[in-house]
Formats: sequence, C-alpha cells, structure tokens
Amino acid sequence: MTAYAKRRRPDVSTSIGPIRLANPVLVASGTFGGIQDRVIDVNRLGGVVAKTVTMEPRKGNPPPRVWETASGMLNSIGLDNKGLVAWIDEELPHLSTYRCRLIVSVSGRTAEEYGDLVGRLSEFPRIDAFELNISCPNVSHGMDYGTDPALTEKTLNCARAATKKPLIAKLTPNVTDVTRIAEAALAGGADALSLVNTLKGMAIDWRRRAPCLGGVTGGLSGPAIKPVALRMVWEVCSKFPKVPVVGIGGISTADDALEFIAAGACAVQVGTANFAEVNTPLRIVEEMPAKLAEAGVRRLRDLVGTAR
Ligand SMILES: Cc1cc2nc3c(=O)[nH]c(=O)nc-3n(C[C@H](O)[C@H](O)[C@H](O)COP(=O)(O)O)c2cc1C
Repeated sequence: MTAYAKRRRPDVSTSIGPIRLANPVLVASGTFGGIQDRVIDVNRLGGVVAKTVTMEPRKGNPPPRVWETASGMLNSIGLDNKGLVAWIDEELPHLSTYRCRLIVSVSGRTAEEYGDLVGRLSEFPRIDAFELNISCPNVSHGMDYGTDPALTEKTLNCARAATKKPLIAKLTPNVTDVTRIAEAALAGGADALSLVNTLKGMAIDWRRRAPCLGGVTGGLSGPAIKPVALRMVWEVCSKFPKVPVVGIGGISTADDALEFIAAGACAVQVGTANFAEVNTPLRIVEEMPAKLAEAGVRRLRDLVGTAR
C-alpha cells in the first residue's frame, strides 16, 4: 500500500467503553480456540472472547451436540470446560500470549459465583475485561439470570463488587423485551452489553421419532439469526444510545458487521462463521476499510448508531 493510500485508509479503531481496540472485530465465546489460533494471526483481530469458564469442571451435554440447520446451526454443548483451576493453569498462559484484547467469559451457578469467578480472575493483569455469560440456553437454569431482570441486576452487582475490570453482560435473545434486561444489567454495574447469545431451538428426526440433539434443545446461531440480533441491537442502542454495545449473531461479512455498527454497536463478534471458514474474522478486518472508504466514512466511530 502506498503512503497516500495509508493516509486515506479509514480509521477502524474503536472502544468498548474503557477497552480500546485496534479494530471492531472479535471472535465470539465458544467458537474459537484450539487449533484455529494456529491457522490465523490472532494478533490482527480486535480481540478474542475466550470460551466460557465455570467454577467446577463441566462435562457438557450428551452427543450429538451440534446439528446443521437451514442457514445456521444448533448447538447443545452445555458449557463443557475444565473448570477454573485447570483453566488458569492450562488455558490462560496460551491466551495471554495474544497481543489483541483478551476478554474472559464466565458463567456461575449463582449470582455470588459470578462474583467469585471474576474476583479470582481479576488478579491476572493480562485479562482486559469479563463477559458475563448470563444467557446460555444449553444448561439447566443457564438462562434464568438473563431472562429475569432482578436476577440479572443481582448477578451484575455481585460481579461489580468483585472486580474493577470492565464487565460486559452477554444478553439472551430468548426474552420478550431485551431492553428490560439491558436496563437491569446496567443498573447492576455493567460497563457494556453484548448481544446476542443463541436462540433456543430444536431439530427432530421424525423417522426415529426423536430429537436430533442429545440435549434435546439447543441454541440456534449463524446467518439465520442475524435479523433478530440486529433488531435487538437496534432496540437496545435506541433506548441507551450512550451504552457500548457489542453486536453478535450471524456475522460473516464486512457488510454484516457494518450493519451492526450502523445499528449502534461499537464492535462485533464473529461466531458460527469461524467454523465455516476460519479466516472469516480476518477477512472482515481486511475488507472493512475499503467498504468504509467507498461510502465516504473516514472513521468507523462516525458510523456507530447512524442508522436512525
Ligand atoms: C458451538 C458453539 C459454542 C458456543 N459456546 C459459547 C460459550 O461457551 N459461551 C458463550 O457466551 N457463547 C457461546 N456460544 C454463542 C456464541 O458466542 C454467539 O453468541 C452465538 O453463536 C451467535 O453468534 P453467531 O451467529 O455468529 O454464531 C457458542 C456458539 C456456538 C455455535
């Protein structure tokens, strides 16, 4: 690229509240890690949201755990993870080598346990922020926190009391009015909101007269949910225009990402698309500046929330 082209290149830096990012593209919790980070240059992402960690090890749900649907997938992983102690020993050292933002996702069995988790993890300076997964549809009671405003606020209160690091509350789309949950999360001390997690759904094999997923129901993700996610980001950003919102749901192109930005999101996460093509988030990072330049937008920040 010539020096002139570089000068003309739109500025895609952004921030999620106090967290500054080189670009707005993160990878979503549970959809990235393992081998993907050996295939792409993670350091070129805006950030990584690690897979949700719980206090105790969890085996997750019985197989099959994923099922392909029209324009999407169902998953019923059930927060399979090795638990906090092993995660700190075995996962955090590797995640800490990333030079992009590192956001750690946690899920507690009680509101207090969310506080314990972020409290224990706060001693690690490499962690830039926490995403509170109050919205997993695949665990028993996993969604209660994110569907009941009082519980959402209590959960945020507990986490807020336990850490000074930024808190991002990840909201579920499985509610009638997402703005009520957003309001409760903010009242409890959330610095930012991310939305959405998966939509509860199911698949049935009628010949076997049985559900396709071992966990019976699962979470729908991928392009099929993008219009729903976009609508919810729009609703939350319309009601709370100053609150940093991270858009998630069916994003697989730079245009998808920019639609969420125009709806009011300051950053986005790519989830299911990582399974289809591991390079998707970096392709979005690469394609975004040209899309902005073409539309005469010089700074990504100038586009945030402009679709009204
Ligand atoms: C296989 C799979 C595992 C996931 N695991 C988690 C998880 O551990 N924690 C979490 O907060 N969200 C999890 N999610 C939800 C995603 O982070 C994201 O919110 C959702 O898939 C919607 O985005 P997408 O349509 O781009 O996939 C998972 C999604 C999938 C498909």
